[in-house]
Amino acid sequence: MSAPRIEVLASAREVAGRAADRISAFLASPAPVLGLATGRTPLAVYTALRDRVATGQLSLAHAICFNLDEYSGLPGGHPASFESYMRRELFGPIGLPDDRWHLPDGDGGPAEARSFEAAIVAAGGIGLQLLGIGRNGHIGFNEPGAAHDSRTRQVRLTEQTRQTNAQDFPANTVVPEYAVTMGIGTILEAREILLMATGTAKAEALAAALQGPVSEAVPASALQRHSRVTVLCDFAAAQLLSCQVASCDPKTALLGLVPSVE
Ligand code: GLP
Repeated sequence: MSAPRIEVLASAREVAGRAADRISAFLASPAPVLGLATGRTPLAVYTALRDRVATGQLSLAHAICFNLDEYSGLPGGHPASFESYMRRELFGPIGLPDDRWHLPDGDGGPAEARSFEAAIVAAGGIGLQLLGIGRNGHIGFNEPGAAHDSRTRQVRLTEQTRQTNAQDFPANTVVPEYAVTMGIGTILEAREILLMATGTAKAEALAAALQGPVSEAVPASALQRHSRVTVLCDFAAAQLLSCQVASCDPKTALLGLVPSVE
């Protein structure tokens, strides 16, 4: 186990650019299996990836993609579903065929969850998993209390998460109470994890995840158990971390942090 590498960048834009660079490098590996996330944080990453594909600098043609989660109970094609999000933001514009990307079935039961996990294994396992973090420290839709060895399954969303995510739904629509998410155990099997956090609203969750105790109360704290996690954050999200600057690149305004010695 080695502590997550924390990189602090000057802005959310730089965070997205750095994530897009790492994903692009990963996509150059043979048969890349990429884990993807939804939410607002990765939107700029997908813009960057789309631009790189459009200008011929990047191809996802040989990649297989797996998403973290999907809401339960949304009609097919609902604009707030994560499938619609991924079609809109990445898979549609780059023309990735439907058989190369997978989302958990939001309305599936244990058998569908097992076949989603089996598809990950059959693809060779996730090589690089992109993650955001919820204000309560959730990863995917693993809310506080989720077991660190949990697998893909249906979960109940907290009121806080439903309220936050209401901004992605048309006005007067009820945000689903349930979703299907990769488990924390599933996420931890990815060979490398890239966690992105931007903005003040994520500062508390990020500090608890990286420097608090490893606890089911903070799902993202499970990442402390993984040996290859890189955290990309902006100054706002990094403000509650107690760290020392280990390196500084004046060209990219990038600070490499290590935990401060008490
Ligand atoms: C969502 C997703 C997570 C995401 C998180 C943060 O509900 N299920 O995968 O990381 O919440 O979202 P945002 O980037 O919009 O803050």
